[in-house]
Amino acid sequence: MKIVRTVDELTALRNDNSFKGKRLGFVPTMGALHEGHASLIRRSVAENDCTVVSVFVNPRQFNDPNDYKNYPITTDTDIALLESVKCDILYLPTAEDIYNGYDGCKMDFHGLDRMYEGEFRPGHFQGVVDIVYRLFDLVKPDFSYFGEKDFQQVAIIKLMVKQKNLPLTIVPCPIVREESGLAKSSRNRLLTPEQLEVAPQIYKIITETCAEIPESQTPSTLIETLKNKIDSIKFMKMEYAAFCNSETLELLSKFDKKIETRLCIAVWCGNIRLIDNINCIVK
Ligand code: PAJ
Repeated sequence: MKIVRTVDELTALRNDNSFKGKRLGFVPTMGALHEGHASLIRRSVAENDCTVVSVFVNPRQFNDPNDYKNYPITTDTDIALLESVKCDILYLPTAEDIYNGYDGCKMDFHGLDRMYEGEFRPGHFQGVVDIVYRLFDLVKPDFSYFGEKDFQQVAIIKLMVKQKNLPLTIVPCPIVREESGLAKSSRNRLLTPEQLEVAPQIYKIITETCAEIPESQTPSTLIETLKNKIDSIKFMKMEYAAFCNSETLELLSKFDKKIETRLCIAVWCGNIRLIDNINCIVK
């Protein structure tokens, strides 16, 4: 695996003749890699001639300075994982270099930057599109792989690609979970053993309460039920839960079996914020 650290090195490599006519897959990450990331990278390796992975804890997307400060950095084990899944190129940028002379990406979020995650993490999605647009411009992938763990992120990146007319395809990939059901996340390693024991309750409660929904139910009642169940568990506090149209991410005020529906949720477990989402069957 080649490791590149600067914009100049990456640009020189990308302009190399050996890339001509090759299908290039790209997986942007913030490191502390786990099986969720590995599933995206394996898929890219299987579907492309060359796979680039970036590892960069992007300061612009952290609305909470403590979250940024505590974000786990595990470069050596990341490199070992990337070697084991046969990643071709690892890009490890620095903030000074990648943001040098770059203003950011202006786009119309259609209000999505202020809903769900955006409501509780102001500026987060602007920070995400700033870095992803820049990375796309440098890496120039044909396909880029994103996890549905960050359901709203995938929708916003797709919108950005469409608005900017970028010649690449976004490939959404399913959520990888622990055996307990807990969605894998770099932040899970910040949980205490006691918190880690209760964290799988989130998935258990959302699947029990929302996987199959009678059309006669109302979203607000179910959200109330979720909040009561989650808040009664030690360490846990639900920040929000929302039922939305899986395609448009429009907030649903009533259920409709003709509309593909997703439940998105954020829960504080101690001082660690966990997110999850599931597809809902409305009957
Ligand atoms: P990060 O949280 O490191 O995630 C990188 C990619 O891995 C994202 O597309 C995310 O959705 C996916 N991922 C994380 N956990 C997953 C899981 N359990 N199952 C499936 N996919 C999973 O998302 C980011 O970084 C950043 O916002 C980034 C796009 C890199 C921009 O900085």
